[in-house]
Amino acid sequence: MCGIISYIGPRDATEIVVSGLKKLEYRGYDSFGFVVKNNSDFKIAKKVGRVSEATADGLGLPKSNIAVGHTRWATHGGVTEANAHPHVSNNGKIVVVHNGIIENFQDQKKFLELQGFKFYSQTDTEIIPNTIEYHMRKYDFVEACKRSLKHLDGQYALVIIHKDENKIIAIRKEAPLVIGVGEGEFFVASDVPAFLDYTKKVIFLNEMDMAVIDTAITIFNAKKDTYVERNITNIDWDAEQAKKGNFEHFFMKEVSEQASTLEGVANIDNGLIREVADEIRNAEGIFFVACGTASYACMHGVYIFAKIAKMHINFCLAHEFPNFNHFLTPKSLVIALSQSGETADTLIAMRAAKAAGAKVISITNAMGSTAMRESDKTILTRAGPEICVLSTKAYTSQLAILTLLAYELAGKLEEGKEKLKDVVRYIYYLTSENTRKFIQEIAKNLRYTPHMYLIGRGLQYPTALEATLKIKEVSYIHAEGFAGGELKHGVIALIEHGTPCIVFTSTETETEIISNAMELKARGGYIIGVGPNNNPAFDVWIKVRESEEANSICQIIPMQILAYQLAILRGCDPDKPRNLAKSVTVK
Ligand code: F6R
Repeated sequence: MCGIISYIGPRDATEIVVSGLKKLEYRGYDSFGFVVKNNSDFKIAKKVGRVSEATADGLGLPKSNIAVGHTRWATHGGVTEANAHPHVSNNGKIVVVHNGIIENFQDQKKFLELQGFKFYSQTDTEIIPNTIEYHMRKYDFVEACKRSLKHLDGQYALVIIHKDENKIIAIRKEAPLVIGVGEGEFFVASDVPAFLDYTKKVIFLNEMDMAVIDTAITIFNAKKDTYVERNITNIDWDAEQAKKGNFEHFFMKEVSEQASTLEGVANIDNGLIREVADEIRNAEGIFFVACGTASYACMHGVYIFAKIAKMHINFCLAHEFPNFNHFLTPKSLVIALSQSGETADTLIAMRAAKAAGAKVISITNAMGSTAMRESDKTILTRAGPEICVLSTKAYTSQLAILTLLAYELAGKLEEGKEKLKDVVRYIYYLTSENTRKFIQEIAKNLRYTPHMYLIGRGLQYPTALEATLKIKEVSYIHAEGFAGGELKHGVIALIEHGTPCIVFTSTETETEIISNAMELKARGGYIIGVGPNNNPAFDVWIKVRESEEANSICQIIPMQILAYQLAILRGCDPDKPRNLAKSVTVK
């Protein structure tokens, strides 16, 4: 949700931020902007639309040693050039880019207007450079930035530069910002892939850290009101992993990587799984919390823990957790799932748990993310950078980790690992060119349908919900997922002649789900079966062999491919669907 990249150092900063911002486009793509510090002048370029086609020359940006870029996902103010970042102070000397929301911006704007400041955009961000300018009437740039923080309520990752200073100021509060450390050069970005081509050494800023970066870096923590030291961490991601390679879209690249990402989970350190399983055993009152796709992984967790570990775990959408968090005690455990580790709603739920004295475990894909830093223990999904806005490979890794935890709780970790290893071989087939072509043919039949319904039972119910989300968010076809048993309670009224219905089956649920498929077919439904056995109820069958507890991992893969093919056939961008952004860092 809004991407920031900036650079200070001996290389051409302009080129670095223009190419770096393209790597962050998944974070927001309404509009973008750059500021380049050219001696003691600024050159600013802002545009509505996507940064992918932009070039430094095309934007008229000169070479420089300090540059900042921003790609926007609009919160306050429409998608216009005036609202695009960077925003400049009234005296033209201070420039700010911002990811987050300043909740008290209206009050601060009134205060600044009384001091004679004028505003040219509808954004909350514009108060920031002007608040700094206001403080610079008395203080130097760094001190003015520090003092300005006292006026800002809300969440923010900020990069600030001043016309007369050769430095970058980077500040984070409840929004991601990492510093890449090179040889005599620094990068500041919302996410590591923006600078992976140059360095794998990173400093993760803590809450209320303000980094002042010139030829070196000093970090002041505004909460502690003191200068602090932060460690440098080596990231084990590879620059190539964050590129499309031979694929046209990150979506299909990431879907195709699932055999190897799941192999990574199958080989995960037993010690960590055992430690987390012990926390689960010892807790009294356990909640899974997450949003979106990760929430469907949680639902899957509820089923798989019940089935394998014979344990009941509560599940709550992270943003609904305030309705239930009064049940937390110091003996409770919250297990938060988040690909990015930066989803604001999930972090808020984690903080509620901490406030109640409960323990928090995160399952996240992002090393050094806020979720990781704010939890007692973390299992990294190690799926590598997920650049497509839609979560695919991180989801199946989450399912696989939950499966291993359930097996460990049942005292059968090795059996769980063997099951995963076996599935890995099959996933090579599921993601192969043959499967993709077969699914493409099915997609051709579905491309004009306005509605689609998906059903599953037991472990396949969350699969139906996740498949539904994939189809909706990337092809914009209305799709709804239901538990098979719900059909007769109302849903079946929606079925008309030719309505596509996708039915997930397994040996365990076959009898009941096939009778649901028959009910749909009797009302004219066009039935697509996904599972181990063909059936006369099916108009089309997508064979996915029986993998028992790992069925959900296998069955979602053809659905990810279907969503992708539908997007392509309907002319939609599979990597950057409309209105979405990866990493939802606002409430
Ligand atoms: C859907 C999708 C989103 C995310 C959700 C949570 O494809 O990607 O629904 O799953 O925004 O994000 P994380 O997992 O980063 O907390």
